Amino acid sequence: MSISNQHDVLIIGSGAAGLSLALRLASNGPVALISKGPVNEGCTYYAQGGISAVLAEEDSFQSHVDDTVNAGAGLCDPDSVRFTIEHGPENIRWLQQLGVPFTKETSPDGSRVLHLTREGGHSFRRIVHAADATGVALSNTLVNHVRQHASIDVYENHIAVDLITGSKQGLKHNRCVGAYILNKNTGHVKRFLAKTVVLATGGASKVYLYTTNPDCSTGDGIAMAWRAGCRVGNMEFNQFHPTCLYHPEAKSFLISEAVRGEGGKLLLPDGEQFMHRFDQRTELAPRDIVARAIDHEMKRLGAECVYLDISHRSAAFIKSHFPTIFKRCLELGLDITREPIPVVPAAHYTCGGVMTDMNGRTDIEGLYAIGETAFTRMHGANRMASNSLLECLVFAGSASKDIIKNIADIRLEKKIAPWDESRVTDSDEEVVVTHNWDELRRFMWDYVGIVRTNKRLERAMRRIQLLQHEIYEYYSNFRISSDLIELRNLAQVSELIIRCAMERKESRGLHFSLDYPDSLGEQSAKDTILTPGKDNKPAANIQAVK
Ligand code: FAD
Ligand code: SIN
Repeated sequence: MSISNQHDVLIIGSGAAGLSLALRLASNGPVALISKGPVNEGCTYYAQGGISAVLAEEDSFQSHVDDTVNAGAGLCDPDSVRFTIEHGPENIRWLQQLGVPFTKETSPDGSRVLHLTREGGHSFRRIVHAADATGVALSNTLVNHVRQHASIDVYENHIAVDLITGSKQGLKHNRCVGAYILNKNTGHVKRFLAKTVVLATGGASKVYLYTTNPDCSTGDGIAMAWRAGCRVGNMEFNQFHPTCLYHPEAKSFLISEAVRGEGGKLLLPDGEQFMHRFDQRTELAPRDIVARAIDHEMKRLGAECVYLDISHRSAAFIKSHFPTIFKRCLELGLDITREPIPVVPAAHYTCGGVMTDMNGRTDIEGLYAIGETAFTRMHGANRMASNSLLECLVFAGSASKDIIKNIADIRLEKKIAPWDESRVTDSDEEVVVTHNWDELRRFMWDYVGIVRTNKRLERAMRRIQLLQHEIYEYYSNFRISSDLIELRNLAQVSELIIRCAMERKESRGLHFSLDYPDSLGEQSAKDTILTPGKDNKPAANIQAVK
């Protein structure tokens, strides 16, 4: 058993990225796995569609690469895409060995093989899934294995506040040497020291009022890395999933793209199909196109939602392929075997994030970022369906190899100042936090949503600066709470999203501006990279990032 808060590796986040990294590192030394809620609470648990991988005989790596690059609207890094895709099949085999109960079917020769479903942008059936609850199957299996490993210490209800870096501690070497972490049960902030720290904190879709994400997607890792001195990139590309259930009692419930993959049709309130007017791939066009088409039609008609109809498939097919969706809708009085499902777009995925190389290294030595937190340049201006879990698994694998290779040469830094609470008091006005949460998420939805303009972005920037000022004052004077930490991070990532959006003078992929409706073309396609202020200069730690 390791000493309580000193480990070889500190992994912040317990989704697909953090859990699989912990398992890959566990036999090499003590690992701390931190989760700000219960260990399986995160986007991973709610994943429905599945994990993309080239497994069908007629499919090829090249086809998966081409589809990904095509969805990414000219901004995917072909090396990163190929690297991820070529490691897909071995990661699926690893998950099968661990016992993830993927859905199977009987092949013509009578053997049981993985059932592959289809989603938008994919030219072939290549999505491995566990019915429509892939995330539950994946998360539960990984958590069970993690719990059995004596060298993995799991800390639930612990929220990381900030990273500890050498420069801020007056050390000569600007490595990341740990993090300050608030135990939500006791209210105390502790130092967690480690030779290597990994951010696996997921995305930032909670900056928007309507989202498919659980409450924990507040961009904490991106904000912490930025404050510590790492570059971030492509934050303007927040993906809106076209089909979130529209129902007053359903909070953030996704209707999987696999429903469209298996023949679901999008309808206007009067029953008319409309996707053929926007893209010849109709319902299976990439997500940015489908979400914008729905947004356009809702605004044109003043409609509250559109409808997704799968009722032409047999009830038996629907119940066996989409049991979770069927059950949840039925609980809300909607029988999807007979009637169409009311849907609206909602914020779903953060394509940008902390810049990394192919091993998950960030700009700061000793600090890695993997999963949705990272910007690996794989997704470009729009992530293709089911490529995210794949990226989580592949980069957990490459980061683990790099960490294992280097860890023996790293000394644990112990001369770290404790968290200083001497000048703060208990808050007397919690309402400031709740009010600012609501205000921020509403103006981000209204001004920095699916369709943007210069004016809206300027308005949003003015508001975020005001809010950040208030939050800074509050943060400096009062004892921190989990809500305050998240609000501070939400405000930070919102600012990064707005700044990236303002820098892009064109429309591309998920970023659409009425002031610049055209794309600048393939030759002018470039990432939006933000660098922290010059007093906070990043070290040259990233390898092979162009
Ligand atoms: P998450 O799974 O989001 O985990 C983040 C972890 O970080 C959590 O444990 C959280 O507690 C922890 N954390 C965050 N901040 C802190 C902090 N400050 N301190 C401590 N811990 C912290 N992708 C696909 O490829 N296929 C799909 O079928 C699919 N379906 C989806 C369905 C839904 C409804 C949603 C929301 C997303 C879906 N996605 C899908 C996207 C995919 O699920 C996510 O991108 C992926 O799961 C991200 O994994 P992760 O490990 O990076 O982060
Ligand atoms: C879905 O099932 O529609 C979500 C898939 C994804 O986000 O990749």
